[in-house]
Amino acid sequence: MMVGGTGLALTNFPDLVTADANERGDEIMATEGQTSGAATSVRAFGGQHQPKPLPFNPAKLNGFSEKLIRSHWENNYGGAVKALNAVEQRLQELLRDKELPPYVYGNLKREELVRTGSVVLHEHYFANLGGDGKAGGKALGLVKQWFGSYEQWEAEFKKTANALAGGSGWVILAHNMHTGEVHNYWAWDHMHNAPMSRPLLVLDMYEHAYHMDYGAAAAKYVDAFAQNVNWEEVNRRAEASLKGVHPQSGTNNIAILQMEKVGS
Ligand SMILES: [Fe+2]
Repeated sequence: MMVGGTGLALTNFPDLVTADANERGDEIMATEGQTSGAATSVRAFGGQHQPKPLPFNPAKLNGFSEKLIRSHWENNYGGAVKALNAVEQRLQELLRDKELPPYVYGNLKREELVRTGSVVLHEHYFANLGGDGKAGGKALGLVKQWFGSYEQWEAEFKKTANALAGGSGWVILAHNMHTGEVHNYWAWDHMHNAPMSRPLLVLDMYEHAYHMDYGAAAAKYVDAFAQNVNWEEVNRRAEASLKGVHPQSGTNNIAILQMEKVGS
């Protein structure tokens, strides 16, 4: 099984990125390191993120229609990637405008945070689907350690999810690298994250994730999600987080890894 990883945008899917965006992106990369008089182009605003492909066959999930999964991936996740690219490219342009009021710039900085959160969390969500829902390994050990039993952890995870029913948000089983604890964190939107927490298992509770198949019956969607969790991926994240490394590469310097890939 091909497993999608964490981190931003390292695979090819050019039809979700406009030609205009590509052209502007090329200009940005071409001017990298050069001075333009008013400001130097910055690598952080490259605007070249690419959607990761689904790491499973969307027709094979248990309790989810292929139409729902494809729509979610293409419209919501794909849309977030496109928006993030557009926001970064706009930030790049606005850096040169010394007359721009900070509060106007701040609106776009908020969008940068919203879209980044959406991209990262959606990539985790899709990558932790496509399994048989049977927990095991390091992740099972962690939930037993911090919740007493798998059943008690699952009950708390589902209760947290159902608290978000009918609205929006995420449930994130996370290893908090500051406290060393494992929690099911509640997140009302893409910007809610416990500081220093690394996602192990991510559940999308926005209505777009289930309404097509389940209507307002969010609890049934949460049950279906549990039956499709790819615990192999959750285990990779858990082992990597405990070691302080990136789950796919094994490197212990995530920042350098991502900079190298974006710039490659
Ligand atoms: Fe979503």
